Amino acid sequence: MSAKIVRLRSGQEAEVVRAAHLFDEPPDPTAIRDYLDDDRNVFYLAFEVGRPVGFLRGSGLGQLKSTRRQMFLYEIAVDPPHRRQGVARLLIEALLQYCRARGFEEVFVFTDPSNDPAVGLYRTTGAVTETPADRMFVYRL
Ligand SMILES: CC(C)(COP(=O)(O)OP(=O)(O)OC[C@H]1O[C@@H](n2cnc3c(N)ncnc32)[C@H](O)[C@@H]1OP(=O)(O)O)[C@@H](O)C(=O)NCCC(=O)NCCS
Repeated sequence: MSAKIVRLRSGQEAEVVRAAHLFDEPPDPTAIRDYLDDDRNVFYLAFEVGRPVGFLRGSGLGQLKSTRRQMFLYEIAVDPPHRRQGVARLLIEALLQYCRARGFEEVFVFTDPSNDPAVGLYRTTGAVTETPADRMFVYRL
């Protein structure tokens, strides 16, 4: 079964609280509300049979060289029992679709090059690096 991906909007902070098990540190309801209120931020949750099993968040950034924006993919994680089932791939695809539809120039994400799952995920979903050991992965849209 494939996960359902939902973009959370302003006022949906209770959904993030319900997904607290996915975060390293417990999210603060006021901070979540401010985050979701800012429409430069994107927050996707992945659900399996109604339960949150993964999330992705990022922020759109302005540039000086172009009016097109960049998306900084800040964080992505999937609950361990639900890994290797294509959940993160769906989250990335949702973000890329969002950014393409809005004319973003690129999406970028930093990771430790020794994080094999993250490197594998970014490469198989189309991100490139300038050098094999680079920490920055870029999706050119
Ligand atoms: C990275 C992470 C989000 C991947 O989530 P996932 O839902 O398991 O990934 P998917 O099932 O969508 O995998 C997509 C592709 O990524 C690659 N991949 C995923 N896990 C992998 C692993 N353990 N080893 C190597 N490649 C891996 C594969 O190419 C995979 O495609 P395939 O299964 O068809 O071979 C997950 O491992 C995770 O939450 N890790 C901890 C948090 C983290 O490190 N986040 C990234 C830095 S912020």
